Amino acid sequence: MWRVKSLDAILATAEKKSLHRSLGPIQLTLLGIGGIIGTGIFVLTAEAAQKAGPGMLLSFVIAGFVCAVAALCYSELAAMAPVSGSAYTYSYAVLGEFVAWLVGWALILEYAVAASAVAVGWSGYVVGLLDHSLGIVIPFELANGPHAGGIVNLPAIIIAAAVTGLLVIGTTESATVNAVLVAIKVAALTAFIILSVPVIDDTHFRPFAPLGGSGVIAAAASIFFAYVGFDAVSTAAEETRNPQRNVPIGLIGSLAICTIFYMLVAAGAIGAYGAQPVMGVNGEHLATGSTQLAARCAALSQAADTPLVCSREALAHVMRQIGHPVVGNLLGLAAGLALPSVILMMIYGQTRIFFVMSRDGLLPDVFSKIHPRFKTPHIVTMVTGCVVAVAAAFFPVGQLADISNSGTLFAFLIVALAVMMLRKTEPNRHRPFKTPLVFVVAPLAIAGCITLFFFLPPAAKLVFPVWSAIGLVFYFLYGYRKSHVARGLVEVPELSPDAPPTAVPPMPDAPAPGDRR
Ligand code: ALA
Repeated sequence: MWRVKSLDAILATAEKKSLHRSLGPIQLTLLGIGGIIGTGIFVLTAEAAQKAGPGMLLSFVIAGFVCAVAALCYSELAAMAPVSGSAYTYSYAVLGEFVAWLVGWALILEYAVAASAVAVGWSGYVVGLLDHSLGIVIPFELANGPHAGGIVNLPAIIIAAAVTGLLVIGTTESATVNAVLVAIKVAALTAFIILSVPVIDDTHFRPFAPLGGSGVIAAAASIFFAYVGFDAVSTAAEETRNPQRNVPIGLIGSLAICTIFYMLVAAGAIGAYGAQPVMGVNGEHLATGSTQLAARCAALSQAADTPLVCSREALAHVMRQIGHPVVGNLLGLAAGLALPSVILMMIYGQTRIFFVMSRDGLLPDVFSKIHPRFKTPHIVTMVTGCVVAVAAAFFPVGQLADISNSGTLFAFLIVALAVMMLRKTEPNRHRPFKTPLVFVVAPLAIAGCITLFFFLPPAAKLVFPVWSAIGLVFYFLYGYRKSHVARGLVEVPELSPDAPPTAVPPMPDAPAPGDRR
């Protein structure tokens, strides 16, 4: 189970295939921003405020720092092995099949559960927008899961089903559509910053950390979700021109740009409106996603100044509260238009991971079964879509994001470990991008991931080992024996003709395949 699929074998199979390498550094950076900006900043800002109060500003810094050091590690590996599969593939090459399986299994949490979280975030914004702009009220029971006193989150199911349907018929997001959606999201955040930052009132920053340092780190563990998605850049490495240079630019560039926006948005939300946590009637702290908090917020919702933490459309709420109702609605519109593309990227990423694992023989062939007409892995897409919809229907956004984070943190940790190990085992291999101070940066990434993991809420921390244990059973029952590497089948073509479409289709002016090489 420690067998590796050597980096040379991975690269050799990647060389054989004929994907257009069409993406340049700007498109890659936009792809990263498209995957990053979503429910995290638009919705989870409220959750972070409940955990840290104004101290969430620091939480954004901490989470951004952990992602930055992880991104530096990703860059080295992605530049060396610009092939699909991301963290799963790197682990296979360096740490062996067993760890690769665990990473692939954890990535299911990252992608599928994140898609559910974004669907719930989308629901909050669209329900608010319909109410505030058109006066259409979706009944509370049908727009919230049981945790908040509702029955089912119907809009979240609808968007998950719609996105799944699009993926089944073969719709993938083109680089152009992604660029337009990124422009919409960036414009929305810019408007928010322009209107909120100038009216910052420093009294809103006091007390800064009402729940102490642990609250700040707990909020960082949750708001980490807002930064996840930059690794989408590494999954597009196979479709990138000069990936050795452009993948690190895309990874680090997209993360840096989003970090700046997030700092300003968080400062604006706290300073212009206030972000103190909501306490129970006896002054006790109420956990995010709890029925107690939902009940307290319901009681406070009649007040003119409903707290930020009670809003399911945090940024739009701040805009409305500081006297810009129209901008608030436009923000809701921007979220309504742009968040589905994050869901699409996540579900797509999920099917891609399944596809690569199935191609390696670790999952049954049905996972890469292709629809005869649409040429998409329809079965795995529909199964993923159903799971995403069910989770979105019944669970709160914060809980879903925390569970997703537990899987992502594990994947990031393994990437940081792999980059160090490869420096030792293959010191002479050509590295187009070298992680600076790798023996400082990678341990920092590992320490950061472990710390954030331990500050996740207990339920999220529990889900990860349980999920991994289920994965182990699957591995020993199936993948351990069927693995292509185990059976000496490493010369499998990297992408068969009936492979699913690529995340970002080639641009019309794409260079001919193989131009780069
Ligand atoms: N970072 C992505 C989001 O916040 C997953 O929606």
